[in-house]
Amino acid sequence: MADVNLACVVGARPNFMKMAPVLRALESHAHVEAVLVHTGQHYDEKLSDVFFDELGMKRPDVCLDVGSGKHGVQTARILERFEAFLETGPPGAGCYDRVVVVGDVNSTMAASLAAIKLRVPVAHVEAGLRSFDRSMPEEINRIVTDAVSDLLFVSEPAGLENLRREGHPSEQLHLTGNVMIDTLMRLLPKARALSTLDRFGLEPGQYGVVTLHRPANVDAPETLAQWLDVLVETSGELPLVFPVHPRTKHRMEQFGQAERLDAAEQIVQLPPLGYLDFLAMTSQARVIITDSGGLQEESTALGIPCLTARPNTERPITVDEGTSTLVGNDPDRLRACLRDVLDGTYKRGSRPALWDGRAAERIARLLAETSQ
Ligand code: UD1
Repeated sequence: MADVNLACVVGARPNFMKMAPVLRALESHAHVEAVLVHTGQHYDEKLSDVFFDELGMKRPDVCLDVGSGKHGVQTARILERFEAFLETGPPGAGCYDRVVVVGDVNSTMAASLAAIKLRVPVAHVEAGLRSFDRSMPEEINRIVTDAVSDLLFVSEPAGLENLRREGHPSEQLHLTGNVMIDTLMRLLPKARALSTLDRFGLEPGQYGVVTLHRPANVDAPETLAQWLDVLVETSGELPLVFPVHPRTKHRMEQFGQAERLDAAEQIVQLPPLGYLDFLAMTSQARVIITDSGGLQEESTALGIPCLTARPNTERPITVDEGTSTLVGNDPDRLRACLRDVLDGTYKRGSRPALWDGRAAERIARLLAETSQ
């Protein structure tokens, strides 16, 4: 029987690449047993299943099958089902010693709440990030999760400052680095050995990658149209590849904007890609245009210019030290930055401290030491 029983929770696409290295690093601590719980927030093959094999991650021990729904519905389902799971306890032992959550999706927050109400301590990986924009569901998820966690693993110094300001004592805070970059560094050689670019007729450094899925960018017809305008224009000079999130696809169809994009010959639209194909694409791109949180960090680690279609970021190091620029909701700012990239005058960044491929080792050690 294990001395330490952990319940590790994933739910949506960006969770998988963060949890995979933590689970891997925990394997070298023989007295720790980690059970993997998938809430089922993402359930499509392309948003979920494909990642487990590619990341070399064990299949979930338990799936809660919560599926999609309004925030309240989705959160409530996770609360109810994860509470029941925790009450059952680990096989052959009394109760879980700790719940481990990653990132900022609804599953992260709901699992933390269920745990703390049962007095199971919570560890949060990627703690302390704040956009100071409470209109983003992720910001609420981050605030609530950190408030109920007592072991906070932070990826950049701004996170430490935020948590101190919110009253967390220093002994709860650990600047451990960025687990998502652990995965990126481990799998980059494998990704670049794939024939992904050939398959889509792309030349290294001669195309841009686009991802857009945030409600603020895709849920209003005028906003979505203004971004599509820039993409169509840019594609005349630089071919673009655009793996389209289901939410965005649905909105483009609903607003009658899908045909416009279909007509742009130099924009390759794709379904959501697996981790390796996507990394093959991003790591050899000229520029990345995105509203994703994780991609701001990945492009900084890769040294690829990242034009972030958001007015703020919870990851300020990607702007201060890295390759990201916030273009807000201003298409002209995006156009100007694209010009700099194409003219070779865009800033160069550097990789932040502790984004060194070993963050999960540091986290696993702390989990093993402090969860008994
Ligand atoms: C969620 C996260 C977001 C993260 C994103 C990555 C929250 C609040 N948001 O947003 O932070 O950046 O994941 O993808 O947790 N859908 C499918 N198949 C699926 C899952 C969802 O088609 O497997 C569609 C459904 O129409 C669903 C919609 O996508 O209603 C939104 O899914 P949801 O999980 O609510 O949020 P995301 O927009 O994916």
